[in-house]
Amino acid sequence: MRKYSILVADDDEKILFAFQELLKKDGFKCFIAYDGLEAKILIEKHKPDIIFLDIRMPKEDGISLLRSMHLKDEGIPVIIMTGHGTMQTAIKAIQEGAFDYITKPIDVNKIRTIIRKALLAINQKGIILTTNTSFNTEILESYELIGQSAEMQEVFKLIGSISTTPNSTPALIIGESGTGKELVARAIHNNGEHSAEPFIAINCTAFPETLLESELFGYEKGAFTGATDRKLGKFELSKSGTIFLDEIGNLSLNLQQKLLRVIQYRRFERIGGNEIIPILARFVAATNVDITSEVRAGRFREDLFYRLNVASVNLTPLRERKDDIPLLANYFLYKYNNRLKKAIRGFSEETIELLLNYPFPGNVRELENIIERAVMLSKSDIIFADALNEYLTPMNSKSKLPQIPIKNNNFADSRNHILEIFEKEFLSNMLYKNKGNISHTANECGMTRQNLIRLMKKHKFDSKFFK
Ligand SMILES: Nc1ncnc2c1ncn2[C@@H]1O[C@H](COP(=O)(O)OP(=O)(O)OP(=O)(O)O)[C@@H](O)[C@H]1O
Ligand SMILES: [Mg+2]
Repeated sequence: MRKYSILVADDDEKILFAFQELLKKDGFKCFIAYDGLEAKILIEKHKPDIIFLDIRMPKEDGISLLRSMHLKDEGIPVIIMTGHGTMQTAIKAIQEGAFDYITKPIDVNKIRTIIRKALLAINQKGIILTTNTSFNTEILESYELIGQSAEMQEVFKLIGSISTTPNSTPALIIGESGTGKELVARAIHNNGEHSAEPFIAINCTAFPETLLESELFGYEKGAFTGATDRKLGKFELSKSGTIFLDEIGNLSLNLQQKLLRVIQYRRFERIGGNEIIPILARFVAATNVDITSEVRAGRFREDLFYRLNVASVNLTPLRERKDDIPLLANYFLYKYNNRLKKAIRGFSEETIELLLNYPFPGNVRELENIIERAVMLSKSDIIFADALNEYLTPMNSKSKLPQIPIKNNNFADSRNHILEIFEKEFLSNMLYKNKGNISHTANECGMTRQNLIRLMKKHKFDSKFFK
């Protein structure tokens, strides 16, 4: 098996000595440097696999060395060692592309863990997807929809054409939870002629029926007990902007009838009043229930459905437009790197594969939450699959088979691919469990030592990774 080399640069002899002992014991080739310049020469000469750099050293400090030698671009994991662990130095180190950082005094277990992670990263080198897609910061803070799939391109076109129609044309947005219905409604509004006017959203399930009615229509003073003053409803407050009626599928039949009249005649009266007030805003409704079956079941008025459905946008579930998954994952990574002041570079290939094969019952919202948590918690600058596994909700009972990554249409190819994933996952778990002890692992797995050793060779597993 290949012997990995590690360079350690520090002006503290005791630290160098401790590293040397440890690394030799663990079977690594070790180079040591007493200052930044020496480190530079040794790095150029030996191209070590992993580098530990003290943040403060004579001649050149660790961070400037990391930057000037473009070590990150070369894919060499660099671990910065700091005297006092302030968050600022840690952030700086990671921002400059350090793989990780450790604080002194140096803890042997910590070093071993970091080396193990770095080795895993090296072995995945070349298959790491970097966040090379650049998003401008305006997109991040605006309500922008991201998508490159044919389905989303179609949605963009529809938004474009709906937004040029007059406000009297309503729109209906249909899609599972988390597919971006509200974003579409906002995009219709923002791209329209009246984007400076209010966008008012109201969730039809959030209020009991009578309250919802007064929220929408408003009321006159004395209309009912408690109506001490006139109150304007959403129909009026939205002026020439947009009224977004979320979860319209849950509207009571009584309110459906009232709404139909308002949409049809574009005018209404406040509760308890008789002044006829024109409606200027556009109605945009959204639903995540299959509204046609609601119509068939008699729970949704057919005439209201046709009225709303003049311009409709259907949002495809994320699992049916997989091309958007890596793009959105990168976008959310970028967003949360910014927001959480992190510098995570990208995802491992396995992570992307995991995401591509996950059914996302919560659609884009779920993907966003997953990436946010991973960015927040990730210690390394790459998001590995194991960091996501625990957040992915188990398949629901409807899908009988677990989602399996299918490589291509070739049976043997695809089978080998899955076997490989399985072997890696299974064996690395068992090896960790048995702290890298081959006999114990083989024993527990019910396989021969020879067989285990053969598989470890195949996957380039070194038992010391698992200690
Ligand atoms: N195409 C997209 N690009 C970027 N972000 C998206 C996209 N689609 C959804 N999102 C994000 O996912 C989250 C959910 O979107 P939104 O609230 O619009 O979904 P929804 O369909 O209204 O869901 P629900 O039915 O649960 O109300 C939001 O944070 C939104 O920013
Ligand atoms: Mg919504």
